[in-house]
Amino acid sequence: MHPNIKKILVSEEAIQTRSAELGKQITQEYSAKGQVPICVAILKGSVPFLVTLIKHIEMDIEFDFMAVSSYEGTESIGDVKIIMDLNRSIKGEHILLVEDIVDTGRTLKEVTKLLINKGAETVKIVSLLDKPSRRVIDINADYVGFTIPNEFVVGFGLDFNEKYRNLPYVGVLKDECYQ
Ligand code: IMP
Repeated sequence: MHPNIKKILVSEEAIQTRSAELGKQITQEYSAKGQVPICVAILKGSVPFLVTLIKHIEMDIEFDFMAVSSYEGTESIGDVKIIMDLNRSIKGEHILLVEDIVDTGRTLKEVTKLLINKGAETVKIVSLLDKPSRRVIDINADYVGFTIPNEFVVGFGLDFNEKYRNLPYVGVLKDECYQ
């Protein structure tokens, strides 16, 4: 275990097993409707989960990336700025948004709205983690890996000051790391 990690919340093995289950469920549900989704991953945190998940989706999917950032201006608290947009048309497409964590829900609300405005036929969300106790916007992922308590977590894509994204598990940092 990394020396700065206090405890592991979700093990590498649990992530692998749950990703396989989600991939199977996604395959079954989209196939039943005759749909093939385009997976859109939100950079950077969702990359390890995207890589793990798509190995278990047995359809000829495509994937693409978007980068967004939250900013808190005086009149735009919780607004989301698009830093990197999709460079293809998604008109009439079925989008499966791949996220690392749903926290307040602001990011997903804004990105979902944007994708619908671009003409997506459907937008569904798959998130590795869900922190429902922090939600301020009424939005939920359609597929959730793990529901976790209100703790700041790192690993498997999630960062603290851009570090710890490469840990193969999700864990909580020791208190002294925040000082
Ligand atoms: P939301 O818009 O508040 O739902 O925030 C979503 C984004 O905040 C995620 O995609 C993460 O990048 C970041 N975030 C939220 N909670 C955590 C956490 O516990 N650790 C690391 N990043 C987090």
